[in-house]
Amino acid sequence: MIQLEGVTLSYGVEKETILILEGVDLNITSGEWITLMGPSGSGKTTLLNVLSGLISPSAGTLMLEGADMKDMKQADRQNYFRTNSSSVYQQFRLLPQFSVLENVMLPLVPYKKKSEIESSAKKLIERVGLSHRLMHFPHQLSGGEQQRTSIARALLTSPKILLCDEPTGNLDTKNRDNILTLLSKLHQEGLTIVVATHDKAVAQRSDRIVHLKDGMISEGILQS
Ligand SMILES: Nc1ncnc2c1ncn2[C@@H]1O[C@H](COP(=O)(O)OP(=O)(O)O)[C@@H](O)[C@H]1O
Ligand SMILES: [Mg+2]
Repeated sequence: MIQLEGVTLSYGVEKETILILEGVDLNITSGEWITLMGPSGSGKTTLLNVLSGLISPSAGTLMLEGADMKDMKQADRQNYFRTNSSSVYQQFRLLPQFSVLENVMLPLVPYKKKSEIESSAKKLIERVGLSHRLMHFPHQLSGGEQQRTSIARALLTSPKILLCDEPTGNLDTKNRDNILTLLSKLHQEGLTIVVATHDKAVAQRSDRIVHLKDGMISEGILQS
């Protein structure tokens, strides 16, 4: 579904150019769960940002469903990322002034009738086990509940790929396991998942582990 060929990302800082990703080749097949592991600063978040369309590679090719991203019109490209991928973050990124229900509804507010969005949002909130928290605000929720809310929000657009940046990094073991069970169910139903993590328990659930070091990839097995 997404292929990266020789993807390189560099930033010019003052008169220097720093390479953040260097010649990354990665083939993401529909339905697989990939874990990105690597030390802090190795480029995991940057790679997820490339996969979500937030940043464009400086060089190399990103193929989306077989089409080269560079050949797509800007509107088609934006539409592809908006309708195909959703992101989940370590810090949850819920809006504090909105309820659980409103937070989950937000991604589709510009595009659909409120009544339609509300019923889909309620189904997803039920799905993540938070129906009893519908009108609560983020500060009234535990970290695990906030992350489940953010997963419900990510699912609202029915994405094909879920990009998770250290999704359990702020959670205790029990809440981490809850989130992992939820991600495993979504994976079994066919959702493609890419997770950046330091946590071997997370990596062990995935189909494949991709190691990043200094912006370069090496695939390998999980070392204990
Ligand atoms: N916008 C930017 N400008 C300059 N350097 C950046 C920018 N974004 C990230 N970096 C650098 O890229 C490297 C990789 O960062 P990141 O992708 O966040 O790594 P990770 O998620 O693996 O910790 C880091 O050295 C970081 O400082
Ligand atoms: Mg990161």
